Amino acid sequence: MTDFPERVFSGVQPTGNLHLGNYLGAIKKFVALQENHNCIYCVVDMHAITTWLDPKELATNTREVTAAFIASGIDPEKHIVFNQSQVSEHAELAWIFNCVARMGWLSRMTQFKDKAGKTQEKASVGLFSYPSLMAADILAYRATHVPVGDDQKQHLELTRDIAQKFNNDFGPSIKEKGYGEAFFPLTEPLIEGPATRVMSLRDGSKKMSKSDPSDLSRIVLTDDPDTIAKKFRKAKTDPMPLPDNLEDLKTRPEAENLVNIYAALSETSKEAVLADYAGFEFSKFKPALVELAVEKLAPISSEMHRLQADPGHIDKILSNGADRARVIARETLDAVKDIVGFIR
Ligand code: TYM
Repeated sequence: MTDFPERVFSGVQPTGNLHLGNYLGAIKKFVALQENHNCIYCVVDMHAITTWLDPKELATNTREVTAAFIASGIDPEKHIVFNQSQVSEHAELAWIFNCVARMGWLSRMTQFKDKAGKTQEKASVGLFSYPSLMAADILAYRATHVPVGDDQKQHLELTRDIAQKFNNDFGPSIKEKGYGEAFFPLTEPLIEGPATRVMSLRDGSKKMSKSDPSDLSRIVLTDDPDTIAKKFRKAKTDPMPLPDNLEDLKTRPEAENLVNIYAALSETSKEAVLADYAGFEFSKFKPALVELAVEKLAPISSEMHRLQADPGHIDKILSNGADRARVIARETLDAVKDIVGFIR
């Protein structure tokens, strides 16, 4: 197997309501990975139009996600931050992957089934082939590691299947053209820690999501301290105090969710949170959680506001990032064209 240099890639859709799940499950991890890796972080605006999105909102949301990346601590100089549509190689590679992926693979995607609902006939073709574009995002950079929340696991398995099938189908051409044994890496998902699946604050059986009709179900990154306090105060819980062991916590989804959020925000484990708070009523635990959340999120929210006041600056960051991303993606695409047999 060919050795691939380590490279991190991940993406966030600019579909509005960027929330605590996005932050703890993804963005906070993006920040940490910068220490020891080359990282590419993308605002995936082409994915965002797989369901209808008003053009004005799309532009605003794209800047908002970029502001969240930077306010959280992503360094767009040392690493690469850009929006997907500025690097057309993603779409080009996605087409080739559409010809590698099988209908059966895509039909099994739970996100498609959830989003299309009962009206699959009316879903866009883009929503169906969404995972091919996601594979192209990652593999245009031959990324080896992808930090995501738990809900993206199936899409990453599909990315590996596409890479594997491409490597197999085009194996002889890859070797003949001197690209080694395998052209694409089998990308590793990075899904770790207590917040890989942050749940709704109103219903511990549903994940926190941008599209939940209830604002009280999620903390959004632009919430002010009073709103954060109100949402946690109103968060659904049960009448019992916090347990002293994980077994008991497991049977109480709302309690487990709040403990997970506390653990992720304070960068400890749920065991450590229980060691400190076992026996506490929610009337005591919630204020501690609010204090911690405000301490961690308020600086991000105010920095986001500051950055968003200057859209021109954000746009410059994105176009500069796109210029650097394009160089890498172009090199991959040129090789892929050779391998596939396209004349250049
Ligand atoms: P998106 O925009 O829905 O979410 C962005 C990131 O946030 C994570 N996430 C969560 N983590 C924990 N708890 C939650 N409740 C929660 N909700 C969302 C997601 O897992 C994700 O990591 N398909 C992707 C975007 C994408 C992508 C890529 C990601 C496009 N191309 C290439 C990685 C690599 C998506 O819709 O994420």
